[in-house]
Amino acid sequence: MIFAAILAGGMGTRMGHLEKPKQYMFLGDKPIVLHTIEKFYINPKFEKIMVLCPKKWIKHTKDLISKEMGEDHRIVVIEGGSTRNETIMNSIKYVEANYDVDENSIIVTHDSVRPFVTHRIIEENIKYALEYGACDTVVPATDTIVQSEDGEFIESIPNRAEIFHGQTPQSFKILKLRELYYNLNIAERDILTDAAKIFTLNHEKVYMVDGDVTNIKITYPYDLKVADTMLKENKI
Ligand code: CTP
Repeated sequence: MIFAAILAGGMGTRMGHLEKPKQYMFLGDKPIVLHTIEKFYINPKFEKIMVLCPKKWIKHTKDLISKEMGEDHRIVVIEGGSTRNETIMNSIKYVEANYDVDENSIIVTHDSVRPFVTHRIIEENIKYALEYGACDTVVPATDTIVQSEDGEFIESIPNRAEIFHGQTPQSFKILKLRELYYNLNIAERDILTDAAKIFTLNHEKVYMVDGDVTNIKITYPYDLKVADTMLKENKI
């Protein structure tokens, strides 16, 4: 069984002072999160598409979805968690409570604020999560990355050919992800900003799926302007 988790549990603080989280801001004629859900909705391989959002936005999210797509049992809206990884774990709890999950059941997790994800990227996530147990979507770094602990002086400059930027989706075998996450202590869980790191910290392999430079994350107001331009040029 294949599941999708659209992660919409954040507050979008870097977008500035907002009366609503950034995933509900309009891109073209509809909220960003609806563009993202549609990318998964058109793929029949998903048993269930879970949309995880802050508790007080659940009703709003359900209303948006039913207005756009009608009532559809393939989509469910549930509460997110206090961190991105806790949001992912809530989706896993939902799956385990409602389905007979086996070792080949996978979850494709995706940022609600990456509306330009492509069909090819989603398909490759499914393929490689089934094959290797975990995969992450990445693009090669174009800028040189420098590393500094104090933020004043450079400690090291990694070889750019070995550096990639992580995007989403990130996809995993469900039982493995849950087992590895709860193997970590609470301090380790708290510093995790990334779900693929749950695997790497446990010395498990994560396959790299080719991402796309157009698969941008809307983080700052500038990104929304870029996204608007991309939309107008029919990139979505
Ligand atoms: N996310 C989530 N649950 C959280 C935190 C984040 O589902 N507790 C989701 C966000 O809604 C977003 C994605 O993870 O779709 C990527 O995170 P990010 O861009 O950092 O979103 P925010 O946490 O909302 O942004 P900010 O850090 O600016 O507040």
